[in-house]
Amino acid sequence: MYTSRIAGIGHYVPDNVVTNADLEKMMDTSDEWIVERTGIKERRWIDPSTGDLPSTMGTKAAQIAIEKAGLTPDDIDFIVFATLSPDYYFPGPGVQVQDQLGIKEIGALDVRNQCSGFVYGLSVADQFIKTGMYRNILVIGSEYHSGGLEKTTRGRNVTVIFGDGAGAVVLQRGEDGKGILSTHLHSEGKHAEELALIGPATSRWVDQIMSENDESDTSYFPYMNGNFVFKHAVTRFSEAIIEAAAANNVQPADINLLIPHQANLRITQFIQRKMGLSDDQVYNNIQRYGNTTAASIPIALSEAHMEGRIKDGDLICLAAFGSGFTWASALIKW
Ligand code: UT7
Repeated sequence: MYTSRIAGIGHYVPDNVVTNADLEKMMDTSDEWIVERTGIKERRWIDPSTGDLPSTMGTKAAQIAIEKAGLTPDDIDFIVFATLSPDYYFPGPGVQVQDQLGIKEIGALDVRNQCSGFVYGLSVADQFIKTGMYRNILVIGSEYHSGGLEKTTRGRNVTVIFGDGAGAVVLQRGEDGKGILSTHLHSEGKHAEELALIGPATSRWVDQIMSENDESDTSYFPYMNGNFVFKHAVTRFSEAIIEAAAANNVQPADINLLIPHQANLRITQFIQRKMGLSDDQVYNNIQRYGNTTAASIPIALSEAHMEGRIKDGDLICLAAFGSGFTWASALIKW
């Protein structure tokens, strides 16, 4: 059996910075509330005039990852694209990346696991590489939240949290024992509606929403039962990290760098304390980007790598929790 290693990482975020002070002009909120409850100071929101979309941002991140891996697009054998905010209802953006990169007609798979999407995607790619089916796989997480958020006081508990951006890795066949040691995937669908965007979709088509013409209808904006999600997040994040460590006979404290999905700085700080990790062992960039869902881990991985926080031989743990509920982890020997 082969191993799979991350050979190149890239990220792309829109230029448009939206500060908490900018949000104060749109809704009844404050920099103090947002920083205290979430740690977020600013986020990137796409300026629609730029034409940025999940597929184009994903492609830009992928181009960097491919270059850093010392490859060209034609070396890529397969694409895995994780997002909850695709350019189109269908098809998913994986095929658009295949086109935008000008690659031959390789397979492209779309993953719908929200905040856990990147780790789910990485796990899928890992299986293809370990069995020898593919040699180089692009795994992308990309999100365009800002266009679909309710930018009023009614939507403030969700809107202040989310940001746009993309990250990508090239997962490559290796034979030296380094790379992804294990991945762990979970779901609990009974909580699907605690963090969801219900319609328009097949349970609630556009014509139904339009015929009701109900101003109080918020089903086409993301909904989050914040306290409920928070409580589950701290439990499931911890379980996923402990599970990854136990599967590899190490302790959470042996992890050199934990790169959690950037959901809320308070959640990450809670997990850090619970796992007994130092500041050096945990990576945070939610302060600058907010929660970018499937993109948050690859953006954080990319920045951590660029900042020299990841060294050869390090144990890196990725962990995520989000809508579904889904949660997941990966332990990587760098
Ligand atoms: O990434 C996927 C997983 N997502 C998460 O893990 C997120 C989990 N949840 C959270 O991060 C937190 O629950 C939030 C940041 C969303 C909310 O923080 P909270 O401490 O749970 O606040 P809350 O919902 O209990 O609201 C407290 C108060 C309420 O006012 P009252 O009822 O006490 O008068 C809210 O109306 O804060 C109010 N509030 C706001 N005030 C100013 C809610 N949103 C805002 C806002 N600005 N943006």
